[in-house]
Amino acid sequence: MELLIALGEVYEAANLIPVTSTHISGASYKTIGDPGVRFLSEISEGCSSKVSSTVNPIGMDRERYAEMRVREEFASKQKEIVDLYEKLGVTNSWTCTPYLIGNRPQLGEHISWAESSAVVFANSVLGARTNREGGPSALASSITGFTPNYGLHDEENRKADVLIELGFEAGEKDFASLGYFTGKICGNRIPYFRSLSASEDDLKTLSASLASSGSVSMFHVEKLTPEWSLGLRDGHEKVQIEKEDLEDVESGWNTSEEPDLIAIGCPHCSVGELKKLARMLEKGWSGPELWACTSEAVSKQVPDAVDMINEHGKVLCDTCVIVSSVEDFSQAIATNSGKASTYLPSLCKQKIMFSDLETLVRRFQ
Ligand code: F3S
Repeated sequence: MELLIALGEVYEAANLIPVTSTHISGASYKTIGDPGVRFLSEISEGCSSKVSSTVNPIGMDRERYAEMRVREEFASKQKEIVDLYEKLGVTNSWTCTPYLIGNRPQLGEHISWAESSAVVFANSVLGARTNREGGPSALASSITGFTPNYGLHDEENRKADVLIELGFEAGEKDFASLGYFTGKICGNRIPYFRSLSASEDDLKTLSASLASSGSVSMFHVEKLTPEWSLGLRDGHEKVQIEKEDLEDVESGWNTSEEPDLIAIGCPHCSVGELKKLARMLEKGWSGPELWACTSEAVSKQVPDAVDMINEHGKVLCDTCVIVSSVEDFSQAIATNSGKASTYLPSLCKQKIMFSDLETLVRRFQ
């Protein structure tokens, strides 16, 4: 409670308000290390979650970690972290797409979520209200049931700042680079896309990319997302994006032609994405090691697709390539994710081959 009050004072929050859901980041031993384990151990003593709480991916699949070449010492520290979160009473989740496994708040609900890609999705696609929380503040909200009332909890702050018009018709292949390019322009402002048709998976991709190049916490798509009619703020900026802008982003990501690993599932794969990958793999696979990351809950919904992917690669649950210790054995990764293309070079010392899923899979068949 002290942490939340201090945060509220910094941001001049009007008061504390109750939340219906939290999503906590900071669960991989790679990202929180021993200080994180100590912090969790102290805070979980005598505390428990008051509201429905999910947690971000951990550093390994708890059953297949040997196949991920995870060292025993890492695995045992990781299990300690999972135990500490379980002691708090959080949902057994370990995913960055909690909205695919039941933590799916409704329009207008006040929530406290960390994990930038999920924050953008929750605000924009679900219309729930959260600031871009950090792991400790989301954890504090989970334990107390409250969050400081400022920023995106106030409807007035949810109007768009930047009108984005596209000089081309965006397809499924464009959402990663479109999000990255728009995030760079917007910083922490809210973009409003005109004439964009997108599936929920496309919006998941867009959310992750927007949050990785800037600190965007929300976007609107005209006539599609639930609060688009809040509209644009007076004096908003107007930006036109062309196909060449996205091609520049993609060529900036590409630094390798010979990946050691293909990584799909950043953010975690949905049921539809697993099925699509499985269908493509029916034609076989002759590429390098293939990982498809998702949550256990999503993987259980499509056992046939999981079997097909496992025939040629690995469906890894509860983890992701970035928070794993992939740098122990890989130098270059191919991915269809804008967020992974942005973070893998700095966080995992990887070169990148970026492409949309279909092109990527066909290339190695
Ligand atoms: Fe999720 Fe890991 Fe990407 S947490 S958004 S799969 S970096």
